[in-house]
Amino acid sequence: MTCTVIVGGFFGDEGKGKIVAHVAYQDDPSIISRGGVGPNAGHTVKTAEKEFGVRMVPSGFIYPDAKLCIGSGVLVDPRVFLNEVGALGVGTRIFVDKRCGIIEEEHIARDKGSAHLSKTIGSTGTGCGPANSDRVLRLSRQAKDVPELADYITDVPLMLNTALDDGETVLLEGSQGFGISLYYGTYPYVTSKDTSASQIAADNGVGPTRIDDVIVVFKAYPTRVGEGPFETEMPREVSHKLGIEEFGTVTHRERRIGTWDGEMARYSAMINGCTQAAITGIDHVDSACYGATEYSQLSKKAKDFIKMAEDDIGVPVTLISTGPEITQTIDLRYEV
Ligand code: IMP
Ligand code: MG
Repeated sequence: MTCTVIVGGFFGDEGKGKIVAHVAYQDDPSIISRGGVGPNAGHTVKTAEKEFGVRMVPSGFIYPDAKLCIGSGVLVDPRVFLNEVGALGVGTRIFVDKRCGIIEEEHIARDKGSAHLSKTIGSTGTGCGPANSDRVLRLSRQAKDVPELADYITDVPLMLNTALDDGETVLLEGSQGFGISLYYGTYPYVTSKDTSASQIAADNGVGPTRIDDVIVVFKAYPTRVGEGPFETEMPREVSHKLGIEEFGTVTHRERRIGTWDGEMARYSAMINGCTQAAITGIDHVDSACYGATEYSQLSKKAKDFIKMAEDDIGVPVTLISTGPEITQTIDLRYEV
């Protein structure tokens, strides 16, 4: 039985969705539950056949044998949720905590209509900031008040803690990344909530003593979408020359690209209580590593990069992503 939290170590879009999916296939969790802000997050999951972008359904949905939950702390946009549930056919195994805050059309209008949010901060325009604001003011509806969600309503913390009592494995997936945490990120250029591992546990009603592992996902070349400081950002010409060009899953904005930030990685690992790290995009460090599934297949250049990252983070890098597909992963978690 283990309870693992998976969070983003930089500014989001580190490839958590893929790591969650890989870990799910390896560890057979009975429940995969989402924390984080809400539908401002886009998770991309790619199999050999298809690419999925999800915003409300946990990115672990691709693993068919787990129940899927949305924790109490998360904001739910019923329109987005119901669309995804229909498109992915997960209606019989997905559950929403009765206390989730609800995003109304009006919150989206306020998000898009506010120059402060949409222009200065560069929000995703999905209504999350205004909805969290109303939630704090105690003006929000909760999921249990929405008739369209009635089939999915449950007590997520009770489900998760009972599964842990019964010796089952549980995955708690975060969203966004450390650098856009309301508490620890580059305020005011942040999202409307903390994004660290403790918050993800709290979002799901799982106490800190029940967490066994915190996997923080870092990206070899970090990215940032929206406004705000980005210490290691490189000019577009340089990143394009490196062959790196990325677009946001939710807003399709071109992501800003930077080089590895060791100082940020260390600070993020500290606050997240990182026990193991994952690094994605190793194929950008050395394209010869694309698709590798064994550590021995990595070049010296890639191994040196991982060693440097490990020194910065202070814990072992146990998961290495070498391409977008779930199977393009090196998993060292169970090696001695
Ligand atoms: P909001 O969360 O939509 O209010 O956006 C606030 C800031 O967080 C903006 O800079 C967004 O681009 C950024 N942001 C929000 N969610 C994500 C995410 O899932 N990935 C990356 N950036 C995000
Ligand atoms: Mg994303």
